[in-house]
Amino acid sequence: MQKTYAEIYRAWQADPEAHWAALARAIDWFTEPTEIFDAAQGVYGHWFPDAVGNTCHNCVDRHVAAGRGDQPALIYDSPVTGRKARYSYGELLTHVNAMAAVLADQGIVKGDRVILYMPMIPEAIFAMLACARIGAIHSVVFGGFAASELAARIDDCAAKLIVSASCGIEPNRVVAYKPLLDAAIDLARHKPERCLVLQRPELAAELRDGRDVDLGPALAAAEGRAVPCAPLKATDPLYILYTSGTTGQPKGVIRDNGGHMVALAWSMRALYGIEPGEVYWAASDIGWVVGHSYIVYAPLLNGSTTVLYEGKPVGTPDAGAFWRVVEDYRVSVLFTAPTAFRAIRKEDPDGALVKRHDLSSLRALFLAGERADPDTVQWAEKVLGVPVIDHWWQTETGWAIVGNPLGLGRLPVKHGSPTVPMPGYELHVLDDAGHPVPPGTLGNIAIRLPLPPGCLPTFWKADERFRAACLSEFPGYYKTADAGYVDDDGYVFVMARTDDIINVAGHRLSTGAMEEVCASHPDVAECAVIGVADAVKGQVPAGFLVLKSGVSRESSLVEAEVMRLVRERIGPVAAFKTAICVKRLPKTRSGKILRGTMQKIADGEEWKMPATIDDPAILDEIAAALTGRSPNPA
Ligand code: COA
Ligand code: AMP
Repeated sequence: MQKTYAEIYRAWQADPEAHWAALARAIDWFTEPTEIFDAAQGVYGHWFPDAVGNTCHNCVDRHVAAGRGDQPALIYDSPVTGRKARYSYGELLTHVNAMAAVLADQGIVKGDRVILYMPMIPEAIFAMLACARIGAIHSVVFGGFAASELAARIDDCAAKLIVSASCGIEPNRVVAYKPLLDAAIDLARHKPERCLVLQRPELAAELRDGRDVDLGPALAAAEGRAVPCAPLKATDPLYILYTSGTTGQPKGVIRDNGGHMVALAWSMRALYGIEPGEVYWAASDIGWVVGHSYIVYAPLLNGSTTVLYEGKPVGTPDAGAFWRVVEDYRVSVLFTAPTAFRAIRKEDPDGALVKRHDLSSLRALFLAGERADPDTVQWAEKVLGVPVIDHWWQTETGWAIVGNPLGLGRLPVKHGSPTVPMPGYELHVLDDAGHPVPPGTLGNIAIRLPLPPGCLPTFWKADERFRAACLSEFPGYYKTADAGYVDDDGYVFVMARTDDIINVAGHRLSTGAMEEVCASHPDVAECAVIGVADAVKGQVPAGFLVLKSGVSRESSLVEAEVMRLVRERIGPVAAFKTAICVKRLPKTRSGKILRGTMQKIADGEEWKMPATIDDPAILDEIAAALTGRSPNPA
């Protein structure tokens, strides 16, 4: 009989190694693990240290070998280009082999870093799997980032090769990738040897002699070649995914091969309740962790069919786009960010477009990436008539920390809570001194070490930064940098970040990084960037600028230049559309900027004049500046 969540959680607590050893049997290893956890590696949590396997083999080859060769593996649906395609597991194997052959021809070998700067097209997935096949470490960079962000990633991982495309397609414009790529390589200190560029019909890119290779013909020439899956240690890195940290320098989260396979394969069945052969759709982007885990690796590890959707929830062409895709491909489970539902609801408040489609295949909607506000969850429940399941996780963990396991029977939903910790995670809510707080009390959510399989072992070439950022504040714990509480029933409520990260339309961004850009403007003396509540995006950034004395230019000019600078340096995804010049920033007498109070004012919440403020009048100026303008001009 199927075990319940509570039984599995208790069994994991009683014997974590036995729990993970049993789940590791779902993986087709080249050498089975005999050791489950190498405690000698300490905090690095080396899972399955003596196992050997290959993630691509488990995502593709093993399914073909098991007779699933004709089953759809990947469905590509692109309303922005009008193209659609289906790839069976057998066809996926052919394409991945060809891509792996092209990479090998360029001299890429195990351990080399390959940056993928790609739109949401099948070749991006072929490239991820091809890297996994030969043991190269991929690092996917989201298309909405600017050249300097790409340059920072090229330098940090010392990429040997970049795979890219001529363009991405946003509803309002064609985004030329090649000029961004060229600018990034010019900016970077480390120069990749080669760029493989896929020419899309919408825009031809100019290729540089000696460095750039036209990927389309190279793939065509490699069709039919077979490249064996490299035997990799479970602890070898599969990928690096850069995510925002508390400085402008992004953190390179490492994912290993073995633990990742074990955790993700289990999550597909236990958490999402998806069987092999069923269609699973994560409406995210491969540039984010949700895309890595749940567009690419987990559905394919599970032998399911994944959907790659190059479009938006609204505007491509309308707010019924998601329902059209669910109907067309008989999607069983949909996973997206709450912001997508807020955008759909704004356009179709009564769910009229939902009713035009046959959604009978849909069993559940999963939400993550930002707090799922109860109002949005209730609306989704009403219009879809299926369970709406919030779950909480981070780039660092790679899979859910807290969720409601649909595949294990599902627990009662409490709106506003992603429900309970997944087996593998022991959560504690701690005060700032590291002491556990009673149920219902807000505090720092920390995970007792070791982290389970699938979570990051460290940051790329930055062990010390990993320790300092994640492990040192609460010894024996991983600091999630999320604040929240656990209620008397053990339900977890995740309320806010404890650092400078904001969540803009489900995209994780650092206000500290934006402040660095604002401060680099020659007229700006100091600045503060805060996240302001937004009805669709959850949060949007707002920057407050103090001009240097003697600057006599119109403040609106500087504001516009600073907005442009953030777009150029971080990217359009930052949605930095509010910059306001003020005379001074509100500070405590010790000089700390009162960002929390500014945020309350901006969000229209009640706020108290802090006792330690050095100049109370300045907060009135900020309030007047904010009420005088829209925080998110269209
Ligand atoms: N390449 C280039 N530019 C991109 C991009 C990409 N891959 N993705 C976004 N951008 C650009 C957009 O074109 C937009 O530019 P603009 O300022 O010129 O209009 C800007 O970045 C902000 O984009 P976005 O955050 O997508 O906002 P939006 O207003 O265009 O759309 C939503 C709002 C809610 C519809 C959209 O954010 C969305 O679909 N969110 C889903 C959430 C999601 O997938 N989260 C991932 C984690 S689960
Ligand atoms: P990312 O690393 O981009 O996935 O962002 C992770 C952060 O997003 C978390 O640390 C949270 O702050 C936030 N987040 C993700 N999912 C949830 C959720 N279900 N509820 C609340 N916050 C969430």
